[in-house]
Amino acid sequence: MKTIDLRSDTITKPTPAMRAAIANAEVGDDVFGEDPTINKLQKKVAALLGKEAALFVPSGTMANQIAIKCHTIPGDEVICDVNSHIFNYEGGSPAFLSGVQLHPLPGVYGIITPQQIKPVIRPKDSHYPQTRLIELENTHNRAGGTIYPLEVIKEIRQLVDFYDLKMHLDGARLWNAHIATGIPLHEYAQYFDSVSVCFSKGLGAPVGSAIAGSMELVNKAHRVRKMLGGGMRQAGILAAAALYAVENNIQRLADDHARAFRIATFLHSVQGVSINLEETRTNIVIADFKDYGVDAKTLCKKLGEQGVLCMDFSATKIRFVTHLEINDADIDRVLEVFGKIFKN
Ligand SMILES: Cc1ncc(COP(=O)(O)O)c(C=O)c1O
Repeated sequence: MKTIDLRSDTITKPTPAMRAAIANAEVGDDVFGEDPTINKLQKKVAALLGKEAALFVPSGTMANQIAIKCHTIPGDEVICDVNSHIFNYEGGSPAFLSGVQLHPLPGVYGIITPQQIKPVIRPKDSHYPQTRLIELENTHNRAGGTIYPLEVIKEIRQLVDFYDLKMHLDGARLWNAHIATGIPLHEYAQYFDSVSVCFSKGLGAPVGSAIAGSMELVNKAHRVRKMLGGGMRQAGILAAAALYAVENNIQRLADDHARAFRIATFLHSVQGVSINLEETRTNIVIADFKDYGVDAKTLCKKLGEQGVLCMDFSATKIRFVTHLEINDADIDRVLEVFGKIFKN
C-alpha cells in the first residue's frame, strides 16, 4: 500500500522527465558565471518576477539570509511576523550571519499590517536598534499557506518608502499565491526590494532557490553567497531541474490546492476540529485539534499507522501539505482513513 506523505511539499523526488532534463543539462563553472543553464534559469526567474536580475542559491534559507545580509548592518532590526520562517526555522541565522535582531509581530494568519508596523518603527536615536527591513512571507507556511492581500502589501510599501526602509519577500511559495489568485508574480514582486523563491517546494525540484532584485542588489548577493560558501560549480544539473519545474509545474499547483481543500473541508466538518476554510486556498492545511481531545502527536501516529503521514505543528495543531506526488485517489484514501479515525 502506498504511503501518502502529506508532511511537506519538500519531500518530492524528481520525475523521469525532470531527471532527463538534469541528464541533458549543459553546464559550466558558475563561479566564473559560465554555466549556461544557471544563466538561463536566472534570466527566466528575473523576468517572471519583473526584476533586473536573479541569483541561483542552494536553499530558501540561504536566499532569505543573503537578502537580510544585503539590506542591513549589524545592530539593525528586521520586522517580521511571529510565525515567519526566518524567525522560527532558520537557526537564528539573522543574528549569526548579519548581527541583526528580529522584531516579530503577532500577525493574523501570518499577515502583519501597516497599523501594527508603523508604531514599532524605531526613532532615529542612538539608543535604539535601527529598523531597516520589513520581511513578509507569501504564501505563509506556519499560518496554513495563507495569501498576503496585495492591498496590504501596497500599504506596507508606502510605509517602507516614507521611512526609507527596505522590504523583502520570502516567496518560497509565491508560485502558489500566484496560481490561487491569478495575480502575476511580477505584480506581487514589484513592491519588494528583494524576493526569494524556491524550486524545491511545490514545484518539485530536488534543490534550489533564487533571490531576485535590482542588479545592484544581486551583485551584492553574489558576493554574500560566495562568503557563505554557496558558490557552486557545474550546478547547471540542479538549475536544469529548477528550469523544468518552472516551465512545467506551476500551473498544476491548482490541483494541489483543490486536493488540500478536500482535506480541509473534511476536517472542518469534524466536531472539535478548528480550521479556517476561507483562508485555506493553497496546498497547506493547518487543523487545530484543541477541542477534539486528542493531542497532535497521538493523532499523527494513528494516521501514520494507516499509511497517512502528516506533521504535528504544535501540541494541538497538525499540518497536511499536498504536492505533485499526491493524486485524487490518494485524497480519496486519506478521507477514508479520516472517516475511520475522526468520529463525530
Ligand atoms: C516559507 C519558507 N521560506 C523558506 C524556507 C526555507 O527553504 P529551505 O528549506 O530550502 O532552506 C521554507 C522551507 O520550507 C519555507 O517554508
